[in-house]
Amino acid sequence: MSHITLISGSTLGNAEDIAKYLSKQLNIFGFTTKIMHGPKLNELVLNGKWLVITSTYGSGELPKNLQPLLEEIKQQKPNLSQIHFGAIGLGDSSYDYFCGAIKKINQELLRLGAKRIGQILKIDALKYSSPRNYAEKWLVNWIQLHTTK
Ligand SMILES: Cc1cc2nc3c(=O)[nH]c(=O)nc-3n(C[C@H](O)[C@H](O)[C@H](O)COP(=O)(O)O)c2cc1C
Repeated sequence: MSHITLISGSTLGNAEDIAKYLSKQLNIFGFTTKIMHGPKLNELVLNGKWLVITSTYGSGELPKNLQPLLEEIKQQKPNLSQIHFGAIGLGDSSYDYFCGAIKKINQELLRLGAKRIGQILKIDALKYSSPRNYAEKWLVNWIQLHTTK
């Protein structure tokens, strides 16, 4: 059964909570997982499957704990052609740059050869009182797409 690295970017803990919750769900489905909150690039294995989960701050910016990773990726331009990834953004649609952070990461990963599995899930804090349930439904579909990769 395959392994999934969950990479989270969070300020107040919501994205971190979703990462932990989805990690447990993935374990129930038989995947092994590792959660990394704001990892450095050299801590990541550059092949396999990633699930990136991040909130947005400022004007569409990444949370502080994930900014260094994006900067390292932009500067070092690693070959990510062996990566398949899923993308989940937490945001608030009352802001101009709704879920801007996950869009930035998605763009950069694709640019460096990574392949995204499924659509980006955008969780709007204004709409969903239970982001865990919403994310879990997306995850079930993501797993089905993912097992064909
Ligand atoms: C100061 C501030 C700025 C924010 N800026 C944005 C933004 O530009 N775009 C967006 O979609 N959400 C924005 N948000 C909403 C957060 O991303 C959202 O509340 C998220 O659930 C927080 O998750 P976290 O606890 O993991 O950090 C902002 C929230 C705060 C408090």
